[in-house]
Amino acid sequence: MKVDVLLGLQWGDEGKGKVVDVLTPNYDVIARFQGGPNAGHTLEFDGIKHVLNTIPSGIFHSNKMNVVGNGVVIDPILFMKEVDALTGMKVPINERMVISRKAHLILPTHRLLDAASEQAKGKKKIGSTLKGIGPTYMDKTGRNGLRVGDIESTNFEERYNNLKEKHIQLLSQFDFEYDLIEMETEWMKSIERFKSFVLVDSEHLINAQKKEGKRILAEGAQGTLLDIDFGSYPFVTSSNTITAGACTGLGVAPNQIGEVYGIFKAYCTRVGSGPFPTELEDEVGERMRKAGHEFGATTGRPRRCGWIDLPALKYACMINGVTQLIMTKADVLSEFETIKACTGYKYKGEVIDFMPFDVVGEELVPVYDELEGWSEDLTGLRSIDDIPATLQSYIDYLERILETPITIVSVGPDRSQTLMRESTWATA
Ligand code: IMP
Repeated sequence: MKVDVLLGLQWGDEGKGKVVDVLTPNYDVIARFQGGPNAGHTLEFDGIKHVLNTIPSGIFHSNKMNVVGNGVVIDPILFMKEVDALTGMKVPINERMVISRKAHLILPTHRLLDAASEQAKGKKKIGSTLKGIGPTYMDKTGRNGLRVGDIESTNFEERYNNLKEKHIQLLSQFDFEYDLIEMETEWMKSIERFKSFVLVDSEHLINAQKKEGKRILAEGAQGTLLDIDFGSYPFVTSSNTITAGACTGLGVAPNQIGEVYGIFKAYCTRVGSGPFPTELEDEVGERMRKAGHEFGATTGRPRRCGWIDLPALKYACMINGVTQLIMTKADVLSEFETIKACTGYKYKGEVIDFMPFDVVGEELVPVYDELEGWSEDLTGLRSIDDIPATLQSYIDYLERILETPITIVSVGPDRSQTLMRESTWATA
């Protein structure tokens, strides 16, 4: 059995958590491969909303193994908060989750460095979630990091102190005040609790599970346009959010990847700074934000909203080798009589259909197709056969341009609001 991957094709917040939860019954193992508590994966069922940050979205299902892979970065304090919330709901986490020894630890000083660096950037700030993600991945690639497996070693505290001292040196270069003591005490307590979890060499475990014929779903965080290599650099996160990230973040060989599910919203959002060619900074964007409840699950920040960007989506399909598309939040567009889809950009006097190398400071004016919308409320639909004809046309249009079948359409946050579809795109 090959490993399937599910990831975001835009700037994150596409609804990955909900869809992973819906697909979990088809899998035995759900494995997170990158990112950390900067993610906020929202799931809704039985009238209750749950937000997961580091824990994989298969955790609510019994008899499934959830793996936090080596590519993930973990803040023990936030992790324990997540654990406590789930334990309060009687989710037997220890029975359902294992953690890679090779995952890196976010130290309190990583969070401080994140905040100090953002503050120093002023107007050029990335809009980081300030969870310490960038500094932790910097220590990983700089070969200074502390890994989860290190907590089992006898000199862990010494190694922690050495790294902390390096960070304090760095912090002294910023005009930044902080109080480390309280954070540190809580962090150490959380590390103690962390020792009760099942730590594994997850690359061996995943490959062994695969050999046994177990079905594995790799769950991405953030989105392709936030990828460290292919996103809108420097306004990106610090990990590879793309299919290749599932290989390095779990130890799965590239030729062992099966289906790649690419998730996108029927429109587009972005939280934090950076280029967003189709952004609507007007009343239309405001209506989108309201209708889509577009506020960050992790930070509560209002998300920037705009029309769907097809050149960016095509790029994401190419980079990830997407085999199936999943469209979410189709219900939000019921708000609009006409829908726009960006097919290219006016840039330096010509129309181009790709994102140029450097869009920061350059004017990219979107070129739009205008399509008829649907006014019907989609949230009560339970079968794809009942969707309005204009939504069907929108789906056909997107499949034609993206050259990939759309096999799931989500019409609301609840598990039940998910329409499965047999695409005829390839034969049409
Ligand atoms: P960081 O990963 O917290 O450093 O944030 C870098 C950029 O990625 C910022 O613009 C964040 O808003 C954005 N970002 C990080 N994680 C997510 C996410 O899960 N969803 C959406 N945006 C994110």
